[in-house]
Amino acid sequence: MEVFKDLKFNIVHLNSTTSTNIHAHQFVEQNPQSEGVVFCADFQDRGKGQKGSKWQSDSGLNLLLSLILCPQFKVQKRFLISQAVSLALFTALDKLSVDELSIKWPNDILVGSKKIAGVLIENSIKGNLINHSIVGIGLNVNQTEFKEMDREATSLQLELENSLDVKEVLHFLLKELKTYYSLLFSNPNRIEELYNAKLYGFGVSLPFQDENGIFNGIIKGVSSIGELQIQIGEAIENYGIKELSFKA
Ligand code: BTN
Repeated sequence: MEVFKDLKFNIVHLNSTTSTNIHAHQFVEQNPQSEGVVFCADFQDRGKGQKGSKWQSDSGLNLLLSLILCPQFKVQKRFLISQAVSLALFTALDKLSVDELSIKWPNDILVGSKKIAGVLIENSIKGNLINHSIVGIGLNVNQTEFKEMDREATSLQLELENSLDVKEVLHFLLKELKTYYSLLFSNPNRIEELYNAKLYGFGVSLPFQDENGIFNGIIKGVSSIGELQIQIGEAIENYGIKELSFKA
């Protein structure tokens, strides 16, 4: 196994696009060797969120990016990429002195119970390997009013009471993405450990909803394939992203 991977970034700025993830997909189809290419946009008119939702962001105020990765990982290990990206976001925000941070499974970044960043990773699989991953990140930087979000939102400006330069935030985040991407290859167990330690609601009784209705359970961790492990009574149940939603 490769023990070190040094990611070199190539940043492309777009004034406006449909979605940086869509743009990155089209690019990687034409340019298969494009690991490290980052598409950043001021505005998206078809920004994509998790589970088919829309990602809304006022023009020029936030970080909207898609990073192309070609990890050549076994498909079964795909959740590690999501964990590494969440940790990079968490660490960047922590270094910017944002308090009360946590990672809400699978990869939302919360401040208290408010969402400050979301991640949408789209993998292209060849055989048993991840050929490329499009890592889409939306981080609220200078937006102070939010509507139509699935949960209350916040931004760096609201948390730090200061506006920030979106470009500087980008470079700050890329530094952490580089570190955690490398750790993914050198020490994947550490990625899992760190991720579990930052998990929202870990060890606490919370309400959830699955196909049978609302129930209370305790988050015990995340399996190696990314399923949330919840203790319900005496049993531990594993849930995939489409099978469960948080009610708190
Ligand atoms: C979520 O629902 O939490 C995931 C949101 C991901 C949004 C980002 S913004 C940049 C990139 N392009 C997209 O269309 N979506 C992701």
